[in-house]
Amino acid sequence: MTNKTFTLTNNTTGASVELPVKTGTLGPDVVDIGALYKQHNVFTFDPGFVSTGSCESDITFIDGEKGVLLYRGYPIEQLAGRSNFIEVAYLLLYGELPSADELASFSSSITHHTMINEGFLRFFNGFHYNAHPMAMVSGVIGSMSAFYHDSMNINDPVHREIFAHRVIAKIPTVAAAAFKHSMGQPFIYPRNDLDYCSNVLNMFFSVPCEPYKISPLAAEALDLLFILHADHEQNCSTSTVRLAGSSGANPYAAIAAGVSALWGPAHGGANEAVLKMLNAIGSVENIPKFVARAKDKDDPFRLMGFGHRVYKNFDPRATLIREMCHKVLKEMGDSNAPLFELALALEEVALQDDYFIEKNLYPNVDFYSGIIYRALGIPESMFTVMFAIARTVGWVAHWLEMIADPAGRIGRPRQLYTGAPLRDYVSVDDRK
Ligand code: CMC
Repeated sequence: MTNKTFTLTNNTTGASVELPVKTGTLGPDVVDIGALYKQHNVFTFDPGFVSTGSCESDITFIDGEKGVLLYRGYPIEQLAGRSNFIEVAYLLLYGELPSADELASFSSSITHHTMINEGFLRFFNGFHYNAHPMAMVSGVIGSMSAFYHDSMNINDPVHREIFAHRVIAKIPTVAAAAFKHSMGQPFIYPRNDLDYCSNVLNMFFSVPCEPYKISPLAAEALDLLFILHADHEQNCSTSTVRLAGSSGANPYAAIAAGVSALWGPAHGGANEAVLKMLNAIGSVENIPKFVARAKDKDDPFRLMGFGHRVYKNFDPRATLIREMCHKVLKEMGDSNAPLFELALALEEVALQDDYFIEKNLYPNVDFYSGIIYRALGIPESMFTVMFAIARTVGWVAHWLEMIADPAGRIGRPRQLYTGAPLRDYVSVDDRK
């Protein structure tokens, strides 16, 4: 807390209230309104939480005006260029980059928790073959609380750590099982001799009848996407995990809530929606028609993969993914190149359009990620699942931070009630 204050004046009564102001390491100050209702009988009103900080956090910082993203203080560009997903996961969970021994031990723990109970495979068989993989993944992650009774005490830091390693290790296995079920192919068990991303590729694409060669470039591209998707401070799904977890619900339930929130097209579901949109646009000459639709207030269509609540400048993740798109398409064959060309052309048109300029709408993380996933052979319905694998690390880091916070309380927003005033019950025979 600083000695700065913020004064609010009630224009009706003339009464003023001085509110304490808190200053973080970076970013705007926050006005602490915690005592406002108790002392002044008034709530604040901020639908969509546009001006609301819901917690203190040490994990991730975004400067949306400048297009800056830091994990634990490290710029995303440095982590993307020099680190790997497992090291970034350690950083997000534990706050510091690991020593060589710490990294080896963490990596080994994640590797040795990748198998899922055989009972889960029967769950997948209960889903229809065309069930959306996000439905399967959220259901199966939520049901994990029924299997791991040995480590469910959220007040025990050792239990919390076991949960963290388990869920980060197992979510790719669950995702792969959902994928294999939708393909009608046999489930492929995890392999402990492979790194995290190579193991994901192997579980997705190998089949029992022939050897599968893992492409190092595919593993590198996946690793980059996972680093970039790992955390993004208090986004919709992370806030959902925190809110669900704040009741003391078991952490698998909280993560399952996060998976469900991520699925929406305004959030992680946008990567799937981008590919659908590019397919619908079809070719460069149709771009103006779709841009006009996105600008039309009477048309619900939006340019998917454009705009962001926080970034009012380039999303630094989109820039890194666009570079990787060039590399992947150049080295892995160009059957997806026309789609990439279309996306580049759409970006160019939108960035020169007054509507997008005035509203600061730039490509976001989801605009180009689907093109890489498609080049790796991952179908559109799996795109948001890939996002969920990576974001599980962020969800877990935030859940751990929230549970360990001694000042933590159940999340419970208030409202502006606009319904009927007090009235008396009327018997059904007397109703008009
Ligand atoms: N296409 C056309 N117009 C847009 C778009 C878009 N993609 N995004 C925002 N706008 C307009 C919107 O109509 C509004 O105009 P006006 O002020 O005239 O009413 C203005 O820009 C502000 O939009 P908003 O909906 O109030 O902004 P928000 O901060 O509530 O929403 C967003 C942010 C990401 C949900 C939104 O930009 C959007 O729907 N984008 C498309 C979906 C998408 O790509 N989502 C992925 C986000 S990044 C990854 C993630 O979060 O998982």
